[in-house]
Amino acid sequence: MDLYEYQARDLFESYGVPVLPGIVADTPEDVRAAAEKLGGTVVVKAQVKTGGRGKAGGVKVAQSPDDAEAAARAILGLDIKGHVVRRVMVAAGARIAQEFYFSVLLDRANRSYLSLSSVEGGMDIEQLAVEKPEALARIEIDPLTGIDAAKAEEIARAAGFPEDLLPKIAPVLERLWWVYRDEDATLVEVNPLVLTESGEIIALDGKITLDENAAFRHQHHAALADAGDIDPLEAKAKENDLNYVKLDGQVGIIGNGAGLVMSTLDVVSYAGEAHGGVKPANFLDIGGGASAEVMAAGLDVILHDSQVKSVFVNVFGGITACDAVANGIVGALEKLGNTATKPLVVRLDGNNVEEGRRILAQAAHPLVTVVDTMDDAADKAAELANA
Ligand SMILES: Nc1ncnc2c1ncn2[C@@H]1O[C@H](COP(=O)(O)OP(=O)(O)OP(=O)(O)O)[C@@H](O)[C@H]1O
Ligand SMILES: [Mg+2]
Repeated sequence: MDLYEYQARDLFESYGVPVLPGIVADTPEDVRAAAEKLGGTVVVKAQVKTGGRGKAGGVKVAQSPDDAEAAARAILGLDIKGHVVRRVMVAAGARIAQEFYFSVLLDRANRSYLSLSSVEGGMDIEQLAVEKPEALARIEIDPLTGIDAAKAEEIARAAGFPEDLLPKIAPVLERLWWVYRDEDATLVEVNPLVLTESGEIIALDGKITLDENAAFRHQHHAALADAGDIDPLEAKAKENDLNYVKLDGQVGIIGNGAGLVMSTLDVVSYAGEAHGGVKPANFLDIGGGASAEVMAAGLDVILHDSQVKSVFVNVFGGITACDAVANGIVGALEKLGNTATKPLVVRLDGNNVEEGRRILAQAAHPLVTVVDTMDDAADKAAELANA
């Protein structure tokens, strides 16, 4: 789960990472009031879970409450890479002498943690990594020892942070590590970490990604999840413990096992090329047990996606044999009744496949077409989605 900048700011503050005062507001009037309260120069910042807000006009410096209100009018409602701005943070303005970059992240490829740091902060870090890779110091972090005082100095030196600033920067890096470790984050990024004209080190921006697998040991993380932000279909899938990701296409996909579902997406994308370019509408893994309840919950989610034109159910019977899956599909369609309105292509294979196909043939549901192979089924589902 990604956090908003203001949520990251608050977490930073609770760990003693230096941040500036910030007030969240969702109307121009409240932004004016916040600017009056903070006094002096403020920065009005779009709160959206995407990068590059500054370049998109989502970060504006305001010298007065009037300016702040005008900035809020320009930023609220702005669409930044598909994220509409509903809230801004009014932050105290910093007098910046220098901007640095620092992050800690989960390095899956190396099964470790990695810190990235640079004296070239403020700019797009992906761009920096490509254009000036030598300016980005990569230091591996041992998960067991993390960033202690010595490691913090090593990182700061590798990045080329000014030597005289090390005593000030190192403790901040240590604290950012505490945030990463104690909150079970997979990313803590500060861009920019600034040196102010008066010589202070401050985290001016923050991005945190929390590991949802660790949510059970962080009661307060639930409050950080922004219900209004979650796609209603994804919320529904979550309620039913289904592994669902909404995509942009027209062919709804249900399968058992993440690997099978991934390859189903590929096969459908490929088949779609011959049928008007239709694409998969979602990823949905119903897991091992394909009971009528689970199948109904899965179909219910997919059939409520207005973009879906056909559904491809691709199940390989293992421990849950094909006859049980077939009964699950028939039961699910009975349960859904009139709400099931889109054609279903079913491909069953594996344990007890003959019996499974017999059950589907006997039920002879008008919406269901049974196809024996995965490629042919993908083709049929794509054809129906394009009809
Ligand atoms: N409180 C502040 N005071 C002064 N300048 C600020 C403040 N906050 C941000 N800035 C300036 O605005 C720039 C962009 O801000 P910020 O890093 O928060 O957004 P961004 O980088 O555009 O967004 P993202 O990090 O989502 O890509 C900073 O690099 C900094 O120069
Ligand atoms: Mg930034």
